[in-house]
Amino acid sequence: MKAITRTKYGTPEVLSIQTLDKPTPKSKELLIRVHASTVNRTDCGILTGKPYLIRAFTGLMKPSSLIPGTDFAGEIEAVGEDVQNFKVGGRVWGFNDEGLASHAQYMLISEDKAVVKIPENISYESAAVSAEGAHYAYNFIKKIPLKAGDKVLVNGATGAIGSAAVQLLKHFGAYVTAVGNTKNMDLVKSLGADKVFDYEKEDFTKDTERYDYVCDAVGKSTFGKCKPLLKEGGVYLSSELGPNAENLYLPLLTLFSKKKTIFPIPSNCKESVLLLNQLLAEGKFKPVIDRTYPMEEVAEAYRYVESGQKTGNVLLSFE
Ligand SMILES: NC(=O)c1ccc[n+]([C@@H]2O[C@H](COP(=O)([O-])OP(=O)(O)OC[C@H]3O[C@@H](n4cnc5c(N)ncnc54)[C@H](OP(=O)(O)O)[C@@H]3O)[C@@H](O)[C@H]2O)c1
Repeated sequence: MKAITRTKYGTPEVLSIQTLDKPTPKSKELLIRVHASTVNRTDCGILTGKPYLIRAFTGLMKPSSLIPGTDFAGEIEAVGEDVQNFKVGGRVWGFNDEGLASHAQYMLISEDKAVVKIPENISYESAAVSAEGAHYAYNFIKKIPLKAGDKVLVNGATGAIGSAAVQLLKHFGAYVTAVGNTKNMDLVKSLGADKVFDYEKEDFTKDTERYDYVCDAVGKSTFGKCKPLLKEGGVYLSSELGPNAENLYLPLLTLFSKKKTIFPIPSNCKESVLLLNQLLAEGKFKPVIDRTYPMEEVAEAYRYVESGQKTGNVLLSFE
């Protein structure tokens, strides 16, 4: 099989394509013929090994997995002898933020992990882009006691996390204000936003509306700047550590304040994949795809994602 590989942390130049043996499934594992995967910001973090904290999960001195990739959609080609819930020929997708070796024509995953059957009406591409950003977006929501009618502002609503956050917040009944760029105003409205800010033309922190939650899905603002937007009892959440890594310690410093911060440490990929699968099947989640690269152009795909300018998600095709 053809696989994207790297033996050290670094820039996209460390990536190459090799021919390797097709893996063999152990007792509870599925062998998947990968059709689509994404290059996402988690992949970029694992590629560079930065922030260094990530290396506690992906290998201290060098990557523990030769093959990168955190998400996939594909067809089951073989199953281990003790697999109960999946059959050869089934269409499946899944995610693991610590790495899945999915940037290859074939990969293995245990049936107990975050892997589910793709709904009949959903393509491999749509399934693959419903994993990474949506998982982190759902983690925002899981960390707060969101009620129907709560007002939430999402900064970076054009990113993978932000575009999923707008949709999931609407699904759970929130009133959503979305901040995005000029070219994607129509897209952001189509995701269900009740109100939009074009960050290239106006400063959302001057909004006179007050919010229960501000979700900085792109990590470009700060608690200090967003604090005036919060109601008393309001909470600021960010997908990034902040300019001085303050989002790590602000949750403690603001614990007894009227306006708080929470750093939404992600957990439980399986729960996210199950929820998104249900929403995809019911037509309640709109996957946002920016570009598709063939596996041969993987370095170019990483460079584009690292630019921080993608709209939604970037696909990698293994067809
Ligand atoms: N905490 C975690 O576990 C975790 C996991 C994954 C990712 N992350 C981080 O979360 C962040 C978001 O990830 P993502 O994949 O959703 O990002 P992304 O898709 O790369 O976000 C790109 C989008 O953000 C927009 N954007 C850039 N600057 C902006 C600004 N100042 N205001 C509003 N929008 C802006 C870009 O629009 P333009 O083209 O107009 O610039 C682009 O559409 C990244 O910083 C990533 O490193 C954290």
